[in-house]
Amino acid sequence: MLIVFLGAPGAGKGTQAKSLAAKKDLTHLATGDMLRAEVAAGTELGLMARGFMHRGDLVPDDVMIGMIKGRIESPESAGVLLDGFPRTVAQALALDEALGAVGASVDRAIYFEVSREELVRRLAGRATCPECQRAYHDTFHPPQKSDKCDDCDAELVRREDDRPEAVLNRLDVYGKQTTPVLDHYRAVGKLVEVNGEQSIDAVQEDLIAAVG
Ligand code: AP5
Ligand code: MG
Repeated sequence: MLIVFLGAPGAGKGTQAKSLAAKKDLTHLATGDMLRAEVAAGTELGLMARGFMHRGDLVPDDVMIGMIKGRIESPESAGVLLDGFPRTVAQALALDEALGAVGASVDRAIYFEVSREELVRRLAGRATCPECQRAYHDTFHPPQKSDKCDDCDAELVRREDDRPEAVLNRLDVYGKQTTPVLDHYRAVGKLVEVNGEQSIDAVQEDLIAAVG
């Protein structure tokens, strides 16, 4: 099974992906998390990607396609949940081609619908675990112990690209470069829309129903 999560920055993709992947035995591939690990490790890829991420721009397509292709062609591709990829039509076409080469295709593309005002509220209050990448929110989803991850006990951090100016650019980039990807999946009847403004548990229930 191959599921794609689509939605603006702050829509709740990462929050939902972790529990859905565990319940449905899917490998959660989050390109943003993979890039942040490269940045933290100071690799060549991380050094190249850092400027784009800091500004809230997309990392070039050829880099992202190369990163995901290797994972799709490996045996773990039996069950994958893609979170943050594809984000351009070129990435969506490359994904179709890579999956086609191994006789597979995207089963469902799930779009999290959330208003711009709510996205800004969520990103302004987000804290993230640097170990497991779990997301918390100061008001909507606080950790049990102040500033510590419930799962790893690591000190929570604020993402560099959650600065207000980077958030505004990420939302603009999303509107221009990623919304056309919705039409790509709508055209082949694979797009499922989920109301991402419900409670975290209610969104999860809708996702389970959508995935089947
Ligand atoms: P990435 O890490 O993918 O960031 P993003 O798409 O901007 O999305 P976020 O992770 O910010 O939001 P989310 O939807 O996961 O929300 P979350 O669950 O955390 O990408 C970062 C960067 O990497 C990009 O800008 C780009 O530079 C680069 N990149 C990555 N992939 C790329 C690609 N394919 N091509 C090119 N470049 C790429 O939730 C947000 C907050 O809301 C949290 O505080 C959470 O607690 C709270 N929340 C969640 N759900 C709810 C709810 N139902 N009610 C109330 N609060 C909620
Ligand atoms: Mg995320």
